[in-house]
Amino acid sequence: MAKQFNKLNATHVDRLTAILDSERVLLKKDKLVEFGHDETEDLIFPPEVVVLPENTSEVSSILKYCDENSIPVTPSGAQTGLSGGALPVHGGVALSLRRMNKIVEIDEKNHQVFVEPGVITQELQEAVEAKGLYYAPDPASRGSCFIGGNIAENSGGPRAVKYGVTKDWVLNLTVVLPSGEVIETGANTLKNSTGYNLTQLLVGSEGTLGVVTQITLKLIPKPSISLLMLAPFFEASKACEAVAAVFRAGVIPSAMEFMERDAIALAAKYVDDPGVHLNTDHEAHLLIEVDGNNADYLMAECEQVMSVLDQFDVGEVLFAESSAQKNALWALRRKVGEAVKAESTYKEEDTVVPRFHLPELLATVKSLGNEFGFRSICYGHAGDGNLHINILKDELSDDYWNDKLPQIIRQIFEKTISLGGTISGEHGIGWVQKGYMDLKFSKTELDLMRAIKGVFDPNGILNPGKIFP
Ligand code: LAC
Ligand code: ZN
Repeated sequence: MAKQFNKLNATHVDRLTAILDSERVLLKKDKLVEFGHDETEDLIFPPEVVVLPENTSEVSSILKYCDENSIPVTPSGAQTGLSGGALPVHGGVALSLRRMNKIVEIDEKNHQVFVEPGVITQELQEAVEAKGLYYAPDPASRGSCFIGGNIAENSGGPRAVKYGVTKDWVLNLTVVLPSGEVIETGANTLKNSTGYNLTQLLVGSEGTLGVVTQITLKLIPKPSISLLMLAPFFEASKACEAVAAVFRAGVIPSAMEFMERDAIALAAKYVDDPGVHLNTDHEAHLLIEVDGNNADYLMAECEQVMSVLDQFDVGEVLFAESSAQKNALWALRRKVGEAVKAESTYKEEDTVVPRFHLPELLATVKSLGNEFGFRSICYGHAGDGNLHINILKDELSDDYWNDKLPQIIRQIFEKTISLGGTISGEHGIGWVQKGYMDLKFSKTELDLMRAIKGVFDPNGILNPGKIFP
């Protein structure tokens, strides 16, 4: 049965204004629209009010009040998410963390950083890099996304293949529960085998269990050198086959990205020319980076990579010659998502399989495209087996888009799961993928997750309508 929530009334607004102040309680229509979307398709669900807390205690007071008054609360970060996690689908309160944006302390002695959730990920990276330290997870949106959103969705990015995703860097979280109680999930230590791992339960929980207000991340010394190459392939399937072969040859690249030709062609319209000459005979490219501290060793690794690629009918490989060219190639790669989005109405699936099965996943998508007449542009983190499948609406009818396509997507996901994979690698389930959760989880497994949700949020006020089918 659908949960009954209260609509916001003047008393609620007065109370929220007393907790914050009127300047941090937004009610104007343009503001509600602004907080009603993220980067997921063209979906808009405006909240009834936006609140802008500045500390844990304010978050606690807001949640306690909303819990007692059955008002839904949707935590909101930088609104760059791709599964609709931040959409206030039941209206209510959008709780924006954008004012909680302090890097509290960089602990150089212990290689840790304490941050608030509203810090932009790239700013965090630059701040620790200025001290010779490194926070590796680098979602494509790192220039605008928040570290809090990265935790909510367990974001990845190109470097995850060597350095892991967000979860692998989180040591401890301060979390406000819907009751208003404040908990700490772990400890500021590299090891911890003390009770249940609440830290990892909260990472990737998409703002449905609690609101994270402070984060402890581990850091490592920054690798000093990286080498980047762009390898064209006549056949996309061969590019995918080369991926697992590189790892089997003993090299772990710091990035191993796959891009179909159209992905590059579209992104190229928006960035400085990185010196790539797109050949119509090349179906796909791999962007491969190695990093470390020893130039000779890295050169030897590149040669090893080259000798593997040669076995897969590779074209002429471009080696980035300067840091400007490296930056331009990475800018091109980071722009793909937005560029595809600008091309057509689209749906993006964030499939992930064990990497050796990547060729089979891509072949399935392309053969379904031929069978059912849709165009797809695929790209993603090939080293992780993580393929972003973008299906473009182009001239397809609304009926096809709304009725037929979800069945085709189910077929893609069924194949993904049969290959040992899962339906989201790094974008989360949120609002748009929840209808497919039954493909991955049994009733027992989903009931267990629902029961956990009930323990944290017995009244179901926190980010309702997400994750569960
Ligand atoms: C990327 C985002 C879409 O990899 O995850 O570009
Ligand atoms: Zn990605």
